[in-house]
Formats: sequence, C-alpha cells, structure tokens
Amino acid sequence: MSGQNMNNKVSILITGGAGFIGSHVVRRFVQKYAQYTIINLDKLTYAGNLENLSDLQGSPNYRFVKGDICDEALVENLFHTHDIHKVIHLAAESHVDRSISNPMEFIRTNIVGTVVLLNAARNAWKNSFADRLFYHISTDEVYGSLGETGLFTEDTSYDPHSPYSASKASSDHLVRAYHDTYGIPVVVSNCSNNYGPNQFPEKLIPLAIHNILNNRPVPVYGSGENVRDWLYVEDHAAAIDLVFHAGKVAETYNIGGHNEWKNIDLIRMLCSVMDRKLNRQEGESAKLITFVKDRAGHDLRYAIDAGKIERELGWTPSLQFEEGLERTVDWYLNNSEWIRSVTSGEYTEYYSKQYEHR
Ligand code: NAD
Ligand code: TYD
Repeated sequence: MSGQNMNNKVSILITGGAGFIGSHVVRRFVQKYAQYTIINLDKLTYAGNLENLSDLQGSPNYRFVKGDICDEALVENLFHTHDIHKVIHLAAESHVDRSISNPMEFIRTNIVGTVVLLNAARNAWKNSFADRLFYHISTDEVYGSLGETGLFTEDTSYDPHSPYSASKASSDHLVRAYHDTYGIPVVVSNCSNNYGPNQFPEKLIPLAIHNILNNRPVPVYGSGENVRDWLYVEDHAAAIDLVFHAGKVAETYNIGGHNEWKNIDLIRMLCSVMDRKLNRQEGESAKLITFVKDRAGHDLRYAIDAGKIERELGWTPSLQFEEGLERTVDWYLNNSEWIRSVTSGEYTEYYSKQYEHR
C-alpha cells in the first residue's frame, strides 16, 4: 500500500488517547479529519477512561485498542495491520507525586514504551520515511526549575529533578536520537501545565475542585509559592494539531499560556469561583486551604517562552485563564458521575497514602 490504508485513509496511531490530554486530541482529530483513521492505543491505567470518549462511539474513522505500549508484539502488529503512517505519542505515567513513590512504572512506560514505539516505527517504515512522522508529546518539566525570572526556550538545557521529568527527558532524548541515528522523521513539543475537563483529580486543579465540593481540606504543598504556567487543554490540542501538520521535522516547539500563577493565588481564585457557583458565602471555600508538607524536590517555577510556535506556526492560546477556569469548574460540577467513577476504588487508597501523613 502506498501511503494509505484499504479505506483510502491515512492511519494515525495516537497513544494514551483515553487520558486527559489524549482524549481532547483524539476527539479533535476524529471530528476534524475524516481523511484520517485514528487508532487509539491505551492501556487504560487508573488515568485512562473510555468515558472520556463515549461521544465518539460509532465514528467510522475511530478505533480503540486496549494495550500496553511496552508490548512489542502488539505494537509491531498494530503498525502492520493498520499501516500506521504517523504517531502522536501521549501515553505516559504523568503524575510527579506518583513518580516519587513508584518510579519504576515511569521508567517502564515513559522510557521503555517510547523505545518500543520507535522500534516499531523504524521497522514498519524501513523502506521509506516519506510522509511518515513520529510526534512526541512532552513537558516543560524536563527543563528543571526557574528562579524568579527567565523563561524556558527550546534551547534551555535539560535539568529534570523528579523521576517523572527525568523519564520524560530521557524519552525526548531517545526520540531525537532515533532521528539522528536512523533518520526517523520526528517532532517534539514541550508544554506547560494543562487544565480543563477530564483531568484526573490527582492534579492540583481538579483535586482542589473535588475537595472544595466535598468540604475537604485543600492541600497546598509548602507555602504555596511555587509557580506554574497554566494552559487550557483544548489550546494544547490545537497546538498539537498545528505542530503535527506544519511543524518542521527534527524541531522542538515549546507550548505555554503566558499564564503564570503562584499555587496559593490560583487556589484562592478557584475558591472564590467555587463560592459563587455553589452559592456559598465569599471566603467560605478558602477556609479549606491547608498547608501541608512540601513535595520532595519541588521545582519552584515553570514558565514557557512560546515565541517560536507563535512566530513560526501562528499559534496563540485562545482562552483567558479566568474563562478557562470557569469552564473547567462548570464541567466538573456538571459531571459528578465521571468524578464519582474515577474516585472510587484505587483513588481512595492513593489519596490516603499521599495526603494523610502530610
Ligand atoms: P494522563 O495520565 O491523564 O493520561 C495518560 C494516558 O496514558 C492514560 O490514558 C493511560 O491509560 C495511558 N497509559 C499509561 N501507561 C500506558 C502504557 N504503558 N501503554 C498504553 N497506555 C498507557 O496524562 P496527560 O496529563 O493526559 O498527559 C499526556 C501526555 O502529555 C504525557 O506524555 C505527559 O507527559 C504530557 N504532558 C502533560 C501535561 C499536563 O499538564 N498534564 C503537560 C505537558 C505534557
Ligand atoms: P500538579 O498538578 O501535580 O502538576 P506538576 O507537578 O506537574 O506541576 O501540581 C501543580 C502544582 O501544585 C505543583 O507546584 C505542586 C502543587 N500541588 C499542591 O500544592 N497540592 C497538591 O495536592 C498537588 C497535587 C499539587
């Protein structure tokens, strides 16, 4: 076959498509590009949830495959069966706190899994790299921590501090090495903290929404002075779409919202939004803020210089933070069944291990 599968569509493998960012990327591609067949490979770990994509059931250009990116036979077979031409690789263990208590799963999925995919691409594409692409989705955390000033550019040296960021840094290096060594066409993007619908309530914003809703303490690590640069998840998906279609092979693109917030200021704003939405008295939710023992190796500040993707590809974030936060809170308030299902079972055990001793 030359460039297309039997349905005359280009097959794109998206890994981790049942997770937070992956589900927004899968939806965007399935709905926008009828000329592609999207194959979503996801292991459905605690972070993966097919309900995130229930609206795509029955879409003729969408297939879900439950499986592990570390399973060589499965991945090789997928490339051949579906004549995969392009990959958008999002599957990962993604939570810093879990990487501190259980680093090995991060090494396995984030590093070994990435190499399994790269090897399969190399094998399947050995006759020609024409019209092939391996797009690796990464994080700004690989650059380490900033002081009070400065921004991460694409040329900032890697300096990861957590097992999560070290495993992502390693996978970024391997992706670039497979380009330099074997010629695989690759592109990498490094994005700042995402927020929005469908984010698992272990990350700061959905965890705080869930706890405020249930009148539980809102845990703020250390003194809450750490700074993150927040981007609405659909703006990230739009950037991924652009890099996928217009990014230059072997290049890196930093993606970020020019939207830096100290954790404590962000949480106070969120409490105020929640007071309004829940008809509570102003200041009531903020009483739940509880300072707890800091995260080990906690990076002080992340902030992205997104100048390159803005100049070269014309991307800009579409939403102001206030509007994005409002939409996010509304989504969580309107999707209590989703929260209930993801916070039953394993979550309770995780939560008590993570927070009750702090
Ligand atoms: P997530 O934890 O919500 O989802 C990860 C998905 O990968 C889940 O569906 C999970 O089931 C799947 N998965 C995990 N291990 C797998 C394996 N071995 N085989 C197949 N599937 C597996 O993560 P996310 O927040 O959506 O992040 C997606 C990607 O974006 C990651 O690579 C992450 O490093 C990167 N990223 C995330 C952020 C952020 O703020 N969340 C920012 C920048 C980059
Ligand atoms: P998180 O959402 O885990 O993202 P990341 O570690 O990838 O930046 O955390 C965002 C910030 O919020 C980070 O500085 C750690 C802090 N944080 C808390 O203060 N309390 C919490 O319960 C969590 C999960 C995070």
